Amino acid sequence: MDFFADTAVIDDIRELNGYGLLDGVTTNPSLIAKSGGDFLDTIREIAQIVPGPISAEVAATDYAGMMAEAQVLSAIAENVVIKVPLTLDGLKACRALRAAGTQVNVTLCFSINQALLAAKAGATYVSPFIGRLDDINLDGMELIHAIRALYDGQGFDTQILAASIRNPNHVSDAALAGADVATMPPDVIRALVKHPLTDKGLAAFIADWKQTGQKIIK
Ligand code: E4P
Repeated sequence: MDFFADTAVIDDIRELNGYGLLDGVTTNPSLIAKSGGDFLDTIREIAQIVPGPISAEVAATDYAGMMAEAQVLSAIAENVVIKVPLTLDGLKACRALRAAGTQVNVTLCFSINQALLAAKAGATYVSPFIGRLDDINLDGMELIHAIRALYDGQGFDTQILAASIRNPNHVSDAALAGADVATMPPDVIRALVKHPLTDKGLAAFIADWKQTGQKIIK
């Protein structure tokens, strides 16, 4: 499963990319607003840091507007993926962009029928929002399982990009459910490495090593 950072904060992207942990990045209008940066400059900078797919979302909601904005966003860098909402106009834009060879992420997916439509529109990625389904007492992970079964059964090659991930359990469960990608807030990526027994074990090794009085580099 690929790891994408779900953020527009350049320092976080730089740090996580430095660990070799990033396969791509997703942004959305809310994340751009939160970061406070200029949208086009931010996407340009991210695309220079991470060579993998960088999702940049259109702001228009009509087909013509989405296509015009997609042209501007695609011109930023080759690895920019156009993110469109899961609406009829978004699906139409998805089909047209894919026909022109552009990578498309269809976002705001909350149902199996929506995932079916995204795949039929030729989406490169579909983004089911796990956390937002859990927030309203539905089961986000169940949707990931269902999309995996649907796509495998029908032979769709649209990648399942598990989104709206809120905690490490979402990540492992999405991987086990067969998601192709998980996009995660930076703090969730950092939390994946944490285990109290790792910290305790390392502290004991450091203490014991000190007692030997030895050095590896002499
Ligand atoms: C993914 O592309 C979305 O931008 C993101 O995962 C939404 O997450 P949220 O529900 O935490 O806002």
